[in-house]
Amino acid sequence: MTAASNGAVVSSPAIPAEHVLLDVDDVSCVLGGVRALSEVTMHVGIIGPNGAGKTTLFNVVTGFVPATTGEVRWDGAPLRGGKAHKVARGGLVRTFQNVGGFTGLTVAENLELATRGRDADAIDRVEALLHLADVRDKAVEDCSLATRKLVGIAMALVRTPKLLLLDEPLAGLDDTDRDRVTSLIEQVHDSGVTVCMVEHDIGRTLRLADRMVVLDAGRLVAVGTPAELARDDVLTRNYLSS
Ligand SMILES: Nc1ncnc2c1ncn2[C@@H]1O[C@H](COP(=O)(O)OP(=O)(O)OP(=O)(O)O)[C@@H](O)[C@H]1O
Ligand SMILES: [Mg+2]
Repeated sequence: MTAASNGAVVSSPAIPAEHVLLDVDDVSCVLGGVRALSEVTMHVGIIGPNGAGKTTLFNVVTGFVPATTGEVRWDGAPLRGGKAHKVARGGLVRTFQNVGGFTGLTVAENLELATRGRDADAIDRVEALLHLADVRDKAVEDCSLATRKLVGIAMALVRTPKLLLLDEPLAGLDDTDRDRVTSLIEQVHDSGVTVCMVEHDIGRTLRLADRMVVLDAGRLVAVGTPAELARDDVLTRNYLSS
């Protein structure tokens, strides 16, 4: 285990733990000669420093990057080789580490794009849930960073995911906006969506998570509840301290 800063993925199982929707089985991924993932096996969850492989894991799970070896199963069916749009249609939807929403489009136009104009009810529901109705006609580039993060989450939510994968939704936000986005993520979870989140904000992650997984240098190093991980001095020193 290397000494490390922070980085976390959490899972909030709205679905009972015994009903595992996502199985990552012995997955490795080599990218441009770099071993980004090394034999990772997990059932929803993550934490690790920069370069640990968190985003690569999301990329592999959601079909954006093929696994070099190993298998990912979603609701029992293999995802390997699955195209990203088909994976999303099956209920596994992700956000991206960079800021959400396409510039040149309003918030509402971005949400329409995400549903291909097919689900006005989902857009109304998600705008209300994430308090975006007031900014629906604003161009995303004129919105605050926090609002743009929420637009990214909303673009995933309008596709009615069963599992929502969030890649660093709090990055770049100040404390007030972190609290705001955190509480909206909790509301998303309470609305019945299972959330799996990669995040460097360990304090808020420890409070949000039901389960956490530590990933470092492409390898899985620990899995447990926040309380279980916090009882381990080495994990606390290397991964859970800000
Ligand atoms: N397309 C690529 N080509 C080559 N190497 C890559 C590529 N994408 C990622 N990597 C490498 O794979 C490793 C894992 O990267 P990844 O982006 O998954 O890390 P991360 O845990 O998401 O980090 P961060 O917290 O900085 O977002 C790193 O060493 C990275 O440089
Ligand atoms: Mg990343």
